[in-house]
Amino acid sequence: MYFPSYRMRRLRTTEQVRDLVSETHLSTDRLIHPLFVTHGKDVRTEIESMPGCYQLSISNLVAEAMEVFSLGIPAVLLFGIPAVKDEAGSGAYDDEGIIQMAVAALKESLPELLVITDVCLCEYTSHGHCGIIKDGYVDNDITLEILARMAVSHAEAGADIVAPSDMMDGRVAAIRNGLDGEGFINTPIMSYAAKFASAFYGPFREAAESTPEFGDRRSYQMDHRNSNEAVREVLLDLEEGADIIMVKPALPYLDIIYRIKQETRFPLAAFNVSGEYSMLKAAAAQGWLDEKRVVLESLMAIRRAGADMIITYHAREAAQWLKE
Ligand code: PBG
Ligand code: ZN
Repeated sequence: MYFPSYRMRRLRTTEQVRDLVSETHLSTDRLIHPLFVTHGKDVRTEIESMPGCYQLSISNLVAEAMEVFSLGIPAVLLFGIPAVKDEAGSGAYDDEGIIQMAVAALKESLPELLVITDVCLCEYTSHGHCGIIKDGYVDNDITLEILARMAVSHAEAGADIVAPSDMMDGRVAAIRNGLDGEGFINTPIMSYAAKFASAFYGPFREAAESTPEFGDRRSYQMDHRNSNEAVREVLLDLEEGADIIMVKPALPYLDIIYRIKQETRFPLAAFNVSGEYSMLKAAAAQGWLDEKRVVLESLMAIRRAGADMIITYHAREAAQWLKE
């Protein structure tokens, strides 16, 4: 029997040696917790397909955010469910809209918590699309003005970072102009740059009540067969002024995360989306998977692929596990 004098197993003999040579680190300070906020008093409605996630009214949102922050999670990503929806998504830039009020409440109670807001119209439009509909098609350029207005109103309410997820062309530039025009030159844009049209968003649409009433999102979100196109999307967003770029979903798209990190070296976020969460939750509930281990392994895989930060519904539990 012949093999080289080198034995790979030498560095695997003890935990201490394994730790010493480990290449990737997962820590709570790289996690971002998504939260859903809704109108009403004392609302805490569990999302059926996302056990452990809730639609929260503002006071419960603040309480939840306090817990998240006390676990060492530095940031939340907010999604709003407005009281009324219309064709134009006007609730999106209402100064007294759900997100604007939620951001103000969070910043008042937890000034050090980073509040990131999702900038997109699908939760606010009656038809559930991410932009304004003209002749049955999501009109790009009309939508841009509304997105810029929405981002400015979030910044005015106190948002630390705005995160456009609509996938309109030119929205990063439009939002950057809008923010700069109102003096928010230091508000970063975290752009959902390579966002794929994915069936893994299914549970989110229940959570955010944002399922499109007709058609799907394939005329604006990316085709999941494409990787070169993801690079183009990212480069365009960077050119338009994106500060942090995002790949979404995460686990079925680790090749994209890896590639974007290699090709750009820019700050990169990965969104471990609702369907990825639901799969592990469902299997764990059946006793088919060890939840703690599969969650930490998945998050580590996303970091190993190249993500600097991870948006994940597992953030709270992961933070607890990482403390143990
Ligand atoms: C809205 C938005 C979606 C997600 C984040 N922002 C859904 C969609 O595009 O249909 C998905 C998040 C998740 O599945 O966890 N534009
Ligand atoms: Zn949307």
